[in-house]
Amino acid sequence: MNISSFPSVSQPFASAIDSVIQTRKSLKILGDLNSPAKIPDDFNTRVDAAIKVANWAPFHYPANMIHRQGTMNSVVPWRFYALSQAMCLKLAHFLTQSDAKIDANSTIVRMLSACGGLVIVTWLPDPKKNPKPSKKKRIAFRIIRNEHIAAAGAATQNLLLAAEARDIQTYWSSGGVLQSSDCFKLCGIPNTQKLMGAIFMFPEPHTEMETISGKLRNKRGTKDSWMSWVTINNPHSLA
Ligand SMILES: Cc1cc2nc3c(=O)[nH]c(=O)nc-3n(C[C@H](O)[C@H](O)[C@H](O)COP(=O)(O)O)c2cc1C
Repeated sequence: MNISSFPSVSQPFASAIDSVIQTRKSLKILGDLNSPAKIPDDFNTRVDAAIKVANWAPFHYPANMIHRQGTMNSVVPWRFYALSQAMCLKLAHFLTQSDAKIDANSTIVRMLSACGGLVIVTWLPDPKKNPKPSKKKRIAFRIIRNEHIAAAGAATQNLLLAAEARDIQTYWSSGGVLQSSDCFKLCGIPNTQKLMGAIFMFPEPHTEMETISGKLRNKRGTKDSWMSWVTINNPHSLA
């Protein structure tokens, strides 16, 4: 990227980013497995473009080599598994018909029916090598684990923002049944990976479809309730 092509303070650039951050919101859209959503022709292209750019998240440690076999061998500590609408519907049918016996009226099946795609984001834990690690190794293991999770969270938020910028409504779900070993197996996700989020990608809701917003969206409070400027009065008092 040619940095010099950016002015030092680009107001339109900042406004565009601020607007995407603020307009992003969680939206569950609930459909019906018997009449799946009609998705625009370019929907998959938009989802694919959002996925591509989401990978530009910061990360501190490379993924362990156990996660870097085969074609998905990147050093990044996250993996994305994208399901097209056809695959979402197949998954919904599997859930309702398999031993899992998920109700066709359950939120997850109704969202799979309304969405145009689903991105399952995982993070990649390091394997525990030693059953009795030293304290130093335990701390290092925990730090790497936390930072892998943080990095995968950053990549997931990138995905939400990149989708928002492309007029795709999103919803970050903890997964429920989607994090079961059966679903992982069905989607070809190794069981050495952990679910970071199941990101539903929705086209604009059809008017007849039920929509539910994030319940904590308006509970953030004012800036003073979660941020303060730090004042350091007397650094020598710590000595
Ligand atoms: C890690 C993570 C997991 C989430 N899982 C769920 C979930 O399982 N069910 C749900 O209703 N919302 C879930 N959410 C979405 C939150 O409810 C939502 O972000 C919150 O209400 C704020 O609303 P907003 O995203 O519109 O600002 C999750 C969000 C995050 C970051």
